Amino acid sequence: MNDRLIPEQLAQLRERALAALAAVDSTDALERWRVEYLGRRAAVNTFLRELGQLPPADRRAAGQAANALKAELEAAYAARAQALKDAELAALLERERLDVTLPGRPPALGGLHPTTLVVERILEIFRDLGFRVAEGPEVELDYYNFEALNIPPEHPARDMWDTFYVRPPDIVLRTHTSPNQVRVMERTRPPVRVVVPGRCYRYEAQDASHEWMFYQVEGLAVDRGLTMADLKGVLTTFAREMFWPDVQCRFRCDYFPFVEPGLDMSITCHLCRGAGCRVCKGTGWIELLGAGMVHPFVLRRAGYDPDEVTGFAFGMGPERIAMVKYGIEDIRLFYGNDLRFLEQFR
Ligand code: DAH
Repeated sequence: MNDRLIPEQLAQLRERALAALAAVDSTDALERWRVEYLGRRAAVNTFLRELGQLPPADRRAAGQAANALKAELEAAYAARAQALKDAELAALLERERLDVTLPGRPPALGGLHPTTLVVERILEIFRDLGFRVAEGPEVELDYYNFEALNIPPEHPARDMWDTFYVRPPDIVLRTHTSPNQVRVMERTRPPVRVVVPGRCYRYEAQDASHEWMFYQVEGLAVDRGLTMADLKGVLTTFAREMFWPDVQCRFRCDYFPFVEPGLDMSITCHLCRGAGCRVCKGTGWIELLGAGMVHPFVLRRAGYDPDEVTGFAFGMGPERIAMVKYGIEDIRLFYGNDLRFLEQFR
């Protein structure tokens, strides 16, 4: 080693090292730099190891100069490392920056099915009229679905209900909610005031007004001295609450084996207000439900004495009511699961 050259060599080394450090732009490059300029084989370290070869008089000054350079490079290294880390963090923050003033993405909110909405409204109206709510099985005995309702086997009235048999001849999918009239009476002493919502099934081809699965709400009131006036009063009140206050109700004779007399109730068409239109098929009336005075046979079957009590019953289809209320023209929309339809009722 040429001692006069030492300061100059160290100065060149310093310059090279600092220039290379300035060009470092990644942690990998920084590590390569560290190995080259501060590692075991780095020039400063080799220089320090070989100090002994200098004349004793020069060793001290050369050692101090080399150590000073080494310290400077270490400090520069640390500063560069910190700067790189800061830059990385800044880039990360930039990538993940949140604009808290942006409007949020609204979560998709579910809503109630139109049938549910209407069933709940029906139940609410009848609850206010003193009826309680009960439920019964969808898989039903022929006995409750038919026989106890005054529809014996082979009775022609069975044609009114196309039936799914779960196990012929005695287990069916209920074709209506009327079996609950008997089920409720069997476990209740009069007076009775009950509404029973639930699914019903019919072995039927689908079209705009027929589904093989639909809902009904059954109603039953039994007490001493109930008359047709009570039936009309309750159902008229219901219609005014459900539709509009000045709705007209029309009662006409109809036949159902479990009521006598039996009737159906119509309301004035909401579209034409009675003038006659496509929805009411020109009649001005929309048929809404079946009803009647409970047949003495049914009361007796359920263990009630028809000489003591009388009752009225009714059965309605919530989909039909929803169709009238919301102007829906095809019952198949209800269970077709098209969200564009369903979302309108949120
Ligand atoms: N269960 C009948 C049907 O599904 C509707 C009905 C009519 C129910 C008259 C009644 C009633 O309670 O009294 O067609």
